[in-house]
Amino acid sequence: MAANEVLTTIKKRRSVRSFKSDQITEAELQAVLEAGIYAPSAGNQQLWHFTVIQDKQVLEQLNKDAKAGAAQIDNEHVQLMAKNEKFNIFYGAPTVVLVSGKEDGLMIESDCAAATQNIILAAEAIGLGSCWVDFILSAFGGEQDEQYRQQLGLPAGYKPFSSVALGYKKSEAVNAPARKENVINYIK
Ligand SMILES: Cc1cc2nc3c(=O)[nH]c(=O)nc-3n(C[C@H](O)[C@H](O)[C@H](O)COP(=O)(O)O)c2cc1C
Repeated sequence: MAANEVLTTIKKRRSVRSFKSDQITEAELQAVLEAGIYAPSAGNQQLWHFTVIQDKQVLEQLNKDAKAGAAQIDNEHVQLMAKNEKFNIFYGAPTVVLVSGKEDGLMIESDCAAATQNIILAAEAIGLGSCWVDFILSAFGGEQDEQYRQQLGLPAGYKPFSSVALGYKKSEAVNAPARKENVINYIK
C-alpha cells in the first residue's frame, strides 16, 4: 500500500483529552488555522469563520454553559457528562478554535467539517494534540446565544458548527482501535 507522511499522520491522529497547560506558539496556531482555510468548500464559497479562544474565563464560561445546555438533552450519556462537575468539555486545552459558517451557505455544515478535519490533521502533523469538540454547540441557541455571537465576534448570519481543542499532549495516544470491516464495496 502507498505510504507517505500525510497518510501516516491520518492514521496516527487520535482525539487527545489531556493537555499540558502551556500555550501553543503563534506559529503553531497559524499553521493549523491556515490548514483550516485551505479545506475544500462547496462551490469554493469559503463561508467559514474561525474564532480563536485563549481567554481562560471565556473557555470556562463556555464549558459551564455547554454543560448546562447539554443537561437538557434527552440522552443518558450526555447527561452524565453534563452533570459531572469534574468534566471539562475542552479537557483543559489552552486554545479552542470555534468553527462557524454562514447559515445560508450551500452545504455549509460539510464545509465546516472539512475545515475542522484539516485543523486536527494539521495539529497532529506538527505534534499538537487536538480533539474535535461539538459539545460546545450546547452553549449556543439558548438565552446567551446573542451575547456569545457578539463576544466571540461571529459575523452576522453565521453560526457555530464545531470546535477544536488544541494544546500539547500530556501523553502520547495509543494506536487507533481496529476499524469496522465491510464498509467498502466496489462497482467496477
Ligand atoms: C462531529 C464530531 C463531534 C465530536 N464531538 C466530540 C466532543 O464533543 N467531545 C469529545 O470528547 N470528542 C468529540 N469527538 C471526537 C470523537 O469522539 C472521536 O473522534 C472518536 O471517538 C474516535 O476517536 P479518535 O478521534 O481518537 O480516532 C467528535 C468527533 C466528531 C467527528
